[in-house]
Amino acid sequence: MNARIAVLASGGGSNLQALLDYFARLGDKAPGSVVLVASDKADALALERARRRDIEALFLDADARRDLATILAERQITHVVLAGYMRLVAESVTKAFRGRIVNVHPALLPSFGGKGMYGHHVHEAVVASGTRVSGATVHFVDEVYDHGATIAQWPIPVFAGDTPATVAVRVLEIEHQLYPRVVAELAAGRITLDATGRVRTPHDLIAFPHFVGSDEAGAADAWPSPQEH
Ligand code: GRF
Repeated sequence: MNARIAVLASGGGSNLQALLDYFARLGDKAPGSVVLVASDKADALALERARRRDIEALFLDADARRDLATILAERQITHVVLAGYMRLVAESVTKAFRGRIVNVHPALLPSFGGKGMYGHHVHEAVVASGTRVSGATVHFVDEVYDHGATIAQWPIPVFAGDTPATVAVRVLEIEHQLYPRVVAELAAGRITLDATGRVRTPHDLIAFPHFVGSDEAGAADAWPSPQEH
């Protein structure tokens, strides 16, 4: 099945861009494509990034947000990817896309998540806490903020001299590597959510960036299989 992916974003859309670039690099091996980018902010840069790639860019006003399940169904969307989307997604969508809707969070859940924990608030809390590790979490989306089952997490160090801004940069860099790979695996049907709410994936090594290696020159266009290590 060729996945038809919708990306929801409220801001700059750098994760959207990383996803588009990664799928472009995969070429024929891409398990689908992004066919819709939708935003609750009419002037979101994410919408502009979509237009540049001739992808439908849709502003979601309050009515459209309520009708999002219909909008997605009309376009035969198979997967929903939240990339810096600041709203709780309607339950009609989370229910219809159970196991096919994901989010990236800029910390290691279940720490530093939940309502109000977004953007700079997350990194401020991380630095204030004194923790020496943060990272990125990709998780399934359910009806509660930052609550769905965790699919993958990559860590980054938090140094003594770090500020929320420097941590944010380090986390975003790793999000750009991790998120597209998880989305590709999800779109290919290799990551699933079973009936008991457990994540099923053959990629138990998914949690560690050094198994993927450098992003340069397409060094790692696919997850390594466990047998390769
Ligand atoms: C990312 O840090 C992501 O973890 C969070 O929102 C930010 C979005 O950044 N959910 P961008 O719009 O993809 O640049």
